[in-house]
Amino acid sequence: MSRPDIILETRALKRRFVTHKPLFGAPIEVRAVDGIDLSIRRGETFAIVGESGCGKSTLARMLVRLIDPSEGAVIYDNKDISKLGQKEMRALRSDLQFIFQDPFSSLNPRMTVGALIEEPLRAHGIGTREERRVRVADLLSRVGLMPQHADRYPHEFSGGQRQRIGIARALAASPKVLIGDEPVSALDVSIQAQVVNLLEDLKEEFGLTLIIIAHDLAVIRHMADRVGVMYLGELVEVGPVDEIFANPRHPYTEALIAAIPVPRVGARAKGHAVEGDPPNPIAPPPGCRFHPRCPYAEARCRQERPRLAPIAEGESVACHRHEELSLNGLVEGAAGRAPAAEKRFNLYRAARATSEGAKPSDNSPPPFPSNKE
Ligand SMILES: Nc1ncnc2c1ncn2[C@@H]1O[C@H](COP(=O)(O)OP(=O)(O)OP(=O)(O)O)[C@@H](O)[C@H]1O
Ligand code: SF4
Ligand SMILES: [Mg+2]
Repeated sequence: MSRPDIILETRALKRRFVTHKPLFGAPIEVRAVDGIDLSIRRGETFAIVGESGCGKSTLARMLVRLIDPSEGAVIYDNKDISKLGQKEMRALRSDLQFIFQDPFSSLNPRMTVGALIEEPLRAHGIGTREERRVRVADLLSRVGLMPQHADRYPHEFSGGQRQRIGIARALAASPKVLIGDEPVSALDVSIQAQVVNLLEDLKEEFGLTLIIIAHDLAVIRHMADRVGVMYLGELVEVGPVDEIFANPRHPYTEALIAAIPVPRVGARAKGHAVEGDPPNPIAPPPGCRFHPRCPYAEARCRQERPRLAPIAEGESVACHRHEELSLNGLVEGAAGRAPAAEKRFNLYRAARATSEGAKPSDNSPPPFPSNKE
């Protein structure tokens, strides 16, 4: 059944990578993403969290077909894009754009900033040369740079400015969905706040749907409408951000929140922080994949794999015991929890106040000609 509020969806999405081909026997594979069902709503900011290696980047890259799924489907605007050929996919490329973690390695150092931002427009045959020049100047201003920066090269900019260039480039062809894989984690903390706020402003201005991968729970708490928690290639919990932080339903989500340090020396948040290393994704444990580290595990958890099941509108959890467990969340509000998180929240507020004070009156140029209408 098609739902107009859903812009992007995955169905039983899987991706395996061959890590080793022995002389005899089957190749050894890592199950990076192992059966993900996810629905992203039009216009929301959806955050994906989880430990390093749990499959966040692999999932994000499959959403825009930067890599192909091994199994399952990616549905964009009611169309299965996972099996489209290169030509059909090219027509959709401009709708689904990606912002990389490292703005330096993702920008060709031999191209000027203007040529880099113009490239997606040229690739899609959008606008005349003069129209593209005006569009590049406009995009530079929108991301807080200056039109004359178009003639410079990426190495002449700071990390934060380079990420702004990456964002302008992603916006060039008027995308509908913007996916950021740790878009601020390579940046200095004070610059992170500015880029986070910029993304939020652009989301409103361009009517985007944002999908953000972030390690930093403060960034997620600040930006996201809903959160998907991943563990070892699977989604274990999905829900509205306030609900996830205040009232986690999966023991792994509780553990992520409990790992946020509290302000008193030697003190810890309530709840069980996750212990030990994640299991090997080449041979994930049977039953619930979290059971070797879960303080609430019982016999059933070691044998039966829990499926992600809806518990309320927009909320799902994959835990056999979710109804009986009473887990600890972020009780007294995110900002009060950790000095580092508190500092970042203050920076977001300060950057927001500065950008609001400096906002120009609405004299935006008319919409750019597009080949999509
Ligand atoms: N091209 C590849 N070849 C082989 N294994 C890969 C490849 N890409 C990812 N993997 C493996 O797939 C798993 C998921 O990797 P992925 O990069 O998606 O994790 P992640 O959640 O984004 O981690 P991080 O937070 O460190 O960025 C890991 O075990 C990783 O080693
Ligand atoms: S299913 Fe069992 S092991 Fe898995 S998270 Fe729930 S309680 Fe823990
Ligand atoms: Mg990653």
